[in-house]
Amino acid sequence: MSPFAHVTGWGMAVPEKILTNEDIAAIVETNDEWIVSRTGIHQRHIAEKGETTASLATKAGALALGMTRLDPPDVDLIIVATSTPEHFFPATACLVQDALGAGKAGAFDLSAACTGFIFALNMAAQSIRSGSIRNALVIGSETLSRMINWEDRTTCVLFGDGAGAFVLEASDRPGGVLSCTMRSDGSGGELLSIPAGGSRYPTTAETLQRNMHTIHMNGREVFRFATHVMASATREAASRAGLRLSDISLVIPHQANLRIIEAAARGLKLPMDKFVVNIGDYGNTSTASIPIAVCEAVGAGRIRPGDNLVMVGFGGGLTWGALALQWVATEKRVRPAKRRRRTILVWLAHARSFFRRVYRRIEGILWGGRAKAGP
Ligand code: ACO
Repeated sequence: MSPFAHVTGWGMAVPEKILTNEDIAAIVETNDEWIVSRTGIHQRHIAEKGETTASLATKAGALALGMTRLDPPDVDLIIVATSTPEHFFPATACLVQDALGAGKAGAFDLSAACTGFIFALNMAAQSIRSGSIRNALVIGSETLSRMINWEDRTTCVLFGDGAGAFVLEASDRPGGVLSCTMRSDGSGGELLSIPAGGSRYPTTAETLQRNMHTIHMNGREVFRFATHVMASATREAASRAGLRLSDISLVIPHQANLRIIEAAARGLKLPMDKFVVNIGDYGNTSTASIPIAVCEAVGAGRIRPGDNLVMVGFGGGLTWGALALQWVATEKRVRPAKRRRRTILVWLAHARSFFRRVYRRIEGILWGGRAKAGP
């Protein structure tokens, strides 16, 4: 049993295609001034044909793993937090596991809307602390653009696509995940939902015609809820970790609306430069927003070993939570030989996956034939 779970690798992936506010103004009745002043968003990245939640997750996951000493076959657990899974099942995490060649990993998806990455990180850290696994790949990945009603100006301006990933590893060195607060209130479920396509409203011509497979949101109520919980969750996670607010180097909030982040800063009486804000470039990428913000902050030198961080988020469910973390990782250069070895391992994994499919087909034909011939 190892008492600590450290972040040892991180990575992000966003589609190349950018949709600016001006581009959206050509689709629905809106304008750059309204979007920027109400949300802080200038642009978002949008998945193109062939880019999916699993493909973005795989890219981010491979980058995160690439920073560590782990090869894909060493990974014990993969959790993909997502609100826009590739399918109901199989889990997006299983597709990522196959694409990475993480042959020994258990893999599952976690659904807690935009709070999903925080919940997933905590679940992975607790599994490591319990001693049942040594490491985990935790990914937040979304293609929200596929779930948007592009005629609804109240939602289509807000969201973007992308993925972010962390590798967590067991360690005896103090630091890593320090505490977490996870909260839910299902009585507010209808405030933010994709109502149809599940068992409550299975897909019918009517549900499609009424756009019930897209994001429905009561923006004002969600805004009110978010401004209440962001500060309280941050305080709770910090106090559970034995930290004062003055001990926190940086808060990494879910990027849903700049005004919500500003309200949290006021509530905590912290200056805005203690918050990572990149909503302007990405919009709301749901579960991916926090890990993407961390990746950018590390890249910009805003996060250094020894820093105490709090990640805080909210989302549909309703769900909200915060996680306190002491950053201990340093960026490592992976040697070219190791990089080549990994590329070979991924190719081998793809080949193995292909042959397994073929083998299953052949086996199915053989056994299927026998079943027919049986008594
Ligand atoms: N362009 C121009 N006008 C618009 C637009 C738009 N894109 N959208 C709405 N408006 C209009 C409305 O119709 C309304 O007009 P009216 O006064 O004539 O009725 C006016 O602007 C004001 O609308 P409000 O809804 O009051 O605008 P508000 O200031 O609340 O901003 C917003 C709306 C940005 C959606 C805000 O409420 C918000 O950010 N809420 C939180 C949303 C959120 O965080 N969601 C993600 C949760 S995470 C997850 O789980 C996915």
